[in-house]
Amino acid sequence: MKYIVCEQPGQFRLGEKEPPVAREGEVLVDIKRIGICGTDLHAFKGNQPFFTYPRILGHELSGVVNTVNSISATVKEGDRVVVVPYVNCGECLPCRNNKPNCCAKLKVLGVHTDGGMQEQISVPAELLIPVNDLSLDEAAIIEPLAIGAHALFRAKILDKETIVVIGCGPIGLGIMKLAQVLGNKVIAIDVNADRLAYARESIGIEYTINALEDPLEQVKDLTNGDLATAVFDATGNKTAMESGVQYLAHGGQYILVGLFKGDLQFNHPFIHAREASILCSRNATFTDFHQVIDVLYEKNFPVDSYITHRAPFDRMIDHFNGWLEPENGVIKAMVTLGD
Ligand SMILES: NC(=O)c1ccc[n+]([C@@H]2O[C@H](COP(=O)([O-])OP(=O)(O)OC[C@H]3O[C@@H](n4cnc5c(N)ncnc54)[C@H](O)[C@@H]3O)[C@@H](O)[C@H]2O)c1
Ligand SMILES: [Zn+2]
Ligand SMILES: [Zn+2]
Repeated sequence: MKYIVCEQPGQFRLGEKEPPVAREGEVLVDIKRIGICGTDLHAFKGNQPFFTYPRILGHELSGVVNTVNSISATVKEGDRVVVVPYVNCGECLPCRNNKPNCCAKLKVLGVHTDGGMQEQISVPAELLIPVNDLSLDEAAIIEPLAIGAHALFRAKILDKETIVVIGCGPIGLGIMKLAQVLGNKVIAIDVNADRLAYARESIGIEYTINALEDPLEQVKDLTNGDLATAVFDATGNKTAMESGVQYLAHGGQYILVGLFKGDLQFNHPFIHAREASILCSRNATFTDFHQVIDVLYEKNFPVDSYITHRAPFDRMIDHFNGWLEPENGVIKAMVTLGD
């Protein structure tokens, strides 16, 4: 079977190898879609410090079950499935406390171990969710959207809140749309006018603010001076992350979804007076996956607008460099195998 390996930063290779065999407890899946995300782009560029090479990337995966070798599997041959790429240990304290998304020994397929840029992959049966009523494209965007669902879960956002989401990348857009579907008023902030326009026009986010144009005043105007009950950072940018607290109402919550690899600073009296809750949100749980699946079943997410670029598996290497260029307007690039 064919596979694509990232040999070292800047170098992919399309190769052939023996297909995997489903061991006891595993299910062999024919991969059909591989969503590309920031992690893959960073791994390719070589600025993902914990990455080791060679590595088969790909953690946003959908496919069709080929062979089941597990008596406890909830999927059967021919089922369309989404792969949950988080392999937790099941034994550490967070796993025992029902927080497997931040397992102390977490391994993510396509990040810490080989992922889905291959025609077939064999995975533990419990990592698969059947999604026969979703398209393969829909199934492949469940993972990045589940990151947003988890962030909303962390903040216990229900409905009728006014929230600010900073960062209109694939992660921020997911948070925004899911919050909007739940019935909240969503204010999007970014420094990139094209992405703000995309959030408005393609994703349907009503209120957008350019962070370079007095954003605090604009958030005040949109909230009758109350500010936001929850602010989400989906930038990973130090300046944005440190200034995000300014949009918080007293008693509000600040949820850090973006990842900045360094120290952040907040003025303590400022966050103390607000009794601010500052939370991090990492990965997602099965509950978050199921929440996204429900939203997709209801056709409440603009899947076609979210997937901006596509390439067949055999031609991915030619397209990948273009997906790194901001001027190409990539939100979600999708690699396809078969129909
Ligand atoms: N919590 C998790 O488990 C998880 C999972 C996946 C990704 N992430 C992180 O989420 C973040 C977002 O991911 P993405 O793929 O959407 O990234 P992205 O780079 O595509 O989007 C980030 C957006 O933030 C905007 N931005 C940058 N600086 C800004 C500033 N100062 N003010 C306002 N906006 C600014 C950019 O213009 C861009 O549109 C990254 O840090 C990523 O590592 C976290
Ligand atoms: Zn991803
Ligand atoms: Zn664990």
